Amino acid sequence: MREKVQRLGQNARSYDTIFVRLLHGRVTLAMRIGILTGGGDCPGLNAVIRAVVRKGVLHYDDELVGFMEGWRGVLENKTMVLDYEAISGILPRGGTILRTSRTNPSKREGGLERCMETLKHNKLDALIAIGGDDTNSVGQKLFEQGINVVGVPKTIDNDLSGTDFCFGFDTAVNTAMDAIDRLHTTAEAHQRVMVVEVMGRDAGWIAMYSGIAGGADVILIPEKPFDIEEVAERIRLRHARGRYFSIIVVAEGAKFATDVDSSQGAPVVTEMGKDEFGHVRLGGVGQVLAREIERRTGLETRYVVLGHIQRGGSPSAFDRVLASRYGIGAIDMVHRGEFGCMVALRGNEIVSVPLTEAINKNRLVDPALVDVALGMSEPLKGDKK
Ligand code: F6P
Repeated sequence: MREKVQRLGQNARSYDTIFVRLLHGRVTLAMRIGILTGGGDCPGLNAVIRAVVRKGVLHYDDELVGFMEGWRGVLENKTMVLDYEAISGILPRGGTILRTSRTNPSKREGGLERCMETLKHNKLDALIAIGGDDTNSVGQKLFEQGINVVGVPKTIDNDLSGTDFCFGFDTAVNTAMDAIDRLHTTAEAHQRVMVVEVMGRDAGWIAMYSGIAGGADVILIPEKPFDIEEVAERIRLRHARGRYFSIIVVAEGAKFATDVDSSQGAPVVTEMGKDEFGHVRLGGVGQVLAREIERRTGLETRYVVLGHIQRGGSPSAFDRVLASRYGIGAIDMVHRGEFGCMVALRGNEIVSVPLTEAINKNRLVDPALVDVALGMSEPLKGDKK
């Protein structure tokens, strides 16, 4: 028994608060663990929080401290108690009970030091940071300073390396697919071309999945800059076959390869400056595309920007399960002392990967998926067989 207690004590690099308790006849190393949700929200955040708290409280006898509004809560020591009561009924709720922000402590004077002081002040043994590449990059910086950080991959964009899927993506895809289904009927009734602009930043995952699932005629993604004349030609060929409406799904980060206007070779952006992680606000490609399609084909064309609708609402069953698996995976990693790592999905296994692997580069759309989409669209003369 004494040996086991000593081993548990060594595994946790605690500040000064390791509680060794007897729970249900088992020796457990109870810890104080912080949790935060950072960056853009997505469905499933509450499901992760719930899983962490349930396993922490019920199985490890942990105390959980929630930091409000992402890294801002750590900078300013804004906390909430995350006990069993606090998480009641949150599984189906979108958003996050901890709220979120795009605050970047490393862009603030003494920001990382302030974060470390807050964590010490709260006597935390570890911190679980739920977020995308930005949130996890701050987690890695704090880990390098000796903080016990575990990351959880969240983003509707599905662009984090190291994992096969981020939670939130499946719900966003289903929302976009539902919108595309609805747009089909109005496009058909009016014999129009409908352009649907979806989110995804520099990766085309949402566009590709929702486009294939929704039966789009053309799917445009950031990974493959598009020739506007080729897009127009695919639509012309389809209509020459007797179809009288078309659906184009375009990712917000998609780029014109040819000279259309100032957007040539770069994504279309909304002129609103950059966020604290240096990201421009994307948006507007759908409008430019609709104008060009109408001008080149003579077909009446409309555009729709789905925007933040894709981030809202209740998580799908897939996301609830994945988020719960990630929550359990993360708290187990904390208790195994696997810090500086992110919980991840590889195949159907929950594994742990170094945070550096997750944040070093964006995961882009698999070319095999592009071939699936091209295999179902009008072939052009230059297309490979
Ligand atoms: O990263 C998620 C995401 O929804 C992107 O798809 C989109 O470009 C961005 O966030 C929008 O950010 P904001 O909510 O700050 O407008």
